[in-house]
Amino acid sequence: MNYVNDVSPMHRAPENLALWLPKRGRKFEAGPAPYTRPGANELVVRTRAIGLNLVDGIPGFAYRLVVPWLTFPAVVGGDVAGEVVAVGPGVDRFTVGDRVLGHALGLERSQNRAAEGAFQHYVILMAHVVSPIPDSLSFQQAAVLPLQLSTAASGMFQHDGLGLDLPTADPADRGETVLVWGGSTGVGSNAIQLARNAGYRVVATASPRNFDYLHSLGAAAAIDRNSSEAVDELVAAIGEVPLAGSLAIGNGSLPKVMRVAARAPGTKRVSCAAPGLVTRMLALRAPRGVYVSSIWGGSLKDNEVGPAIYTDFLPTALATGAYRAEPEAEVVGHGLEAIPAGLGRLRDGVSAKKLVVTV
Ligand SMILES: NC(=O)c1ccc[n+]([C@@H]2O[C@H](COP(=O)([O-])OP(=O)(O)OC[C@H]3O[C@@H](n4cnc5c(N)ncnc54)[C@H](OP(=O)(O)O)[C@@H]3O)[C@@H](O)[C@H]2O)c1
Repeated sequence: MNYVNDVSPMHRAPENLALWLPKRGRKFEAGPAPYTRPGANELVVRTRAIGLNLVDGIPGFAYRLVVPWLTFPAVVGGDVAGEVVAVGPGVDRFTVGDRVLGHALGLERSQNRAAEGAFQHYVILMAHVVSPIPDSLSFQQAAVLPLQLSTAASGMFQHDGLGLDLPTADPADRGETVLVWGGSTGVGSNAIQLARNAGYRVVATASPRNFDYLHSLGAAAAIDRNSSEAVDELVAAIGEVPLAGSLAIGNGSLPKVMRVAARAPGTKRVSCAAPGLVTRMLALRAPRGVYVSSIWGGSLKDNEVGPAIYTDFLPTALATGAYRAEPEAEVVGHGLEAIPAGLGRLRDGVSAKKLVVTV
C-alpha cells in the first residue's frame, strides 16, 4: 500500500484554521478546525491560494435552492492551489511537497464534509480531480481553474451533457462547431479552450470589450451577447460548419441558445449552467428537436471525465502552454478573513477576471 504522510499518527497534526459558515444565511467566522488525515484516494493540501466562486457567497435562500443538503457548521469553497502535505492510500500520482491545483468537493451531496471545503489551511482533496502545477504557473493564477474548469468539462464531455470528444495533446480538426454563450465567464473561458483542444471550432459570445480575449482563447468568432441580433449573428457565424453542441452560460442565455441550436445545422444538444430547476423550467419551451441538459460542476468526480481532464489532459497542456489558466487572477486580499469582502466584490460582478485570496 502506498501511504506517504508527513503527519503520521506518531506526530502532532498541524493546527488548522477555517472560515466557517455557522448556519445557513449567517456570516462567515474564522476559527480553529480539525486537521483531517487523508483516506483512500485523498490528499491533504496546504492551501496557498483560493479562488472565489458565486456559489460560495450565495445568501441563505439560494443555498437552500442549490445545495439543500448542506449541513452546518460548513466550510465551503471549491478552488484550491497549494502544496501536498499528506497522501492517502492508493494515491501514486503525488508526493509530499508537490505544487497542485484541485477541485474541493465539500459541497457535493455525496461529500457534505467541512474537511473538503477550500476555505481552510489544510483541505482534503480527491486525487482524481487534482493536477500538478508547472513551475511557470503561480499559485494565485492556478487557483482560478478548478471549479470553472470542472463545470465546463462536465457539461461538454459527460454523456448526459454534450458528449463531445475529449481534449488531447494533438487534436484532429473535427469539422464541427461548439457554441459557447458566455465565453468571457470563467466557465466559458475554460469551455472555449477545452473545445479547441478537442479539435472543435468555437463560436462564442461576450461583451465587445472581451472580443480580443475570446479570440486569444481560440474562438473563431465573437458575437456581442447584448446585441438584439445576437441569435442571427451566431447562426451566420456557425454557417455550414455544423454544431457539435452548445453551452448556455449566464442569466438569460438558454432561450437564445435554444433558438440558435434550432436554426443552425448539426447537433441540437444544449447544456446549461443555470441551477437545475431553472434549466428544467426554461427547457419546457425548447424548440422542437432541441435537447437540453443541466450542468453540475462537481459531477465529473463520479465518471471518466474527472481523470480524463485532471490526470490525462491538464498537466501536459498546462506545462506546454496548450492550455492557459484563465481568466486573469486578481488577488483581493491575504488570509481567510479577506474572503467575505472578496465574495461581496464578486457579487457586484467581474468581467473576464477571477478573484483570488492568498493564504
Ligand atoms: N452549474 C454549475 O455547476 C455551475 C458552476 C459554476 C458556475 N455556474 C454558473 O455559470 C455562470 C458563470 O459562472 P462564472 O463563475 O464562470 O462567472 P464569472 O466568471 O463570474 O462571470 C463574469 C462574466 O459574466 C459575463 N456575464 C454577465 N452576465 C451575463 C449574462 N447574462 N450572460 C452571459 N454572460 C454574462 C460577463 O461577460 P462580459 O463582461 O463579457 O459581458 C463577465 O465576463 C454563472 O451563472 C454561474 O452561476 C454554474
